[in-house]
Amino acid sequence: MLIIDGKKVSLDLKNELKASVDSYRAQTGKVPGLTVIIVGEDPASQVYVRNKAKTCKEIGMISTVIEMPADTTEEHLLKTIHELNNDLTVHGILVQQPLPKQIDEFAVTLAIDPSKDVDGFHPENLGRLVMGHLDKCFVSCTPYGILELLGRYNIATKGKHCVVVGRSNIVGKPMANLMLQKLKETNCTVTICHSATPNIAEFTKQADILIAAIGKAKFITADMVKPGAVVIDVGINRIEDSSTKSGYRLVGDVDYEGVSAVASAMTPVPGGVGPMTIAMLLKNTLQSFQRTNGL
Ligand code: GUN
Repeated sequence: MLIIDGKKVSLDLKNELKASVDSYRAQTGKVPGLTVIIVGEDPASQVYVRNKAKTCKEIGMISTVIEMPADTTEEHLLKTIHELNNDLTVHGILVQQPLPKQIDEFAVTLAIDPSKDVDGFHPENLGRLVMGHLDKCFVSCTPYGILELLGRYNIATKGKHCVVVGRSNIVGKPMANLMLQKLKETNCTVTICHSATPNIAEFTKQADILIAAIGKAKFITADMVKPGAVVIDVGINRIEDSSTKSGYRLVGDVDYEGVSAVASAMTPVPGGVGPMTIAMLLKNTLQSFQRTNGL
């Protein structure tokens, strides 16, 4: 079975991005800038934001993190976003989710200028993706990372049946729409399953490419997978494990041990889809910089 190594691909990609940033700096004297806003002190969000900032700096981009207290008003957050929309040194704006309950996440998504929405969450970007204008939108980072992995591993997709389990706006919906496009890496027949789908296994067993984005540890078991399928695991679930120092370990939405005996190729957790997400965020930020500067 082929292990699809997202850690290695993300390192390759970051090196390529760094080379581009270095070359643009020499050519124009400018570099791409990403501003991340975090509201409150959710520990998982703090780790994600720290990693984004660190990786940004590693490849030579300008990273700015704006920390706001948990009781920030929606009005104040929206005002800050409008200022960043008008700041020519800012090419990407990302507001870390989840947000405190007094703030409407959709209002925040709508406030970000679509041309700086490197998360790809704005309906204009999602709409352009659905319509196939991939060169004129930002694609949500996790599905975009999966597309990159399929492409770099030359996984045949044309005419295959892709089953996506999960229908979130961030992963399931953009993923299914990407797989449907008439692209080299996609061009699939697509089925989307979700929490109200009866007999999910009936669908997953038909998948040539199975993408699991459910958020339930080891949900996909060997009996749900067609022999020879390519299995992409988007899940990051903490389960208790007394043998580790922290008392927990990370597992995906796929039962790796069981499914790896049936699948032809598979992404591990950790080290599969996860490392690709930040790399694609930076790729989107570079793309925003290129578009702004006509490069
Ligand atoms: N929270 C968890 N993942 C993400 C992400 O990709 N973008 C944002 N903005 N918030 C998140």
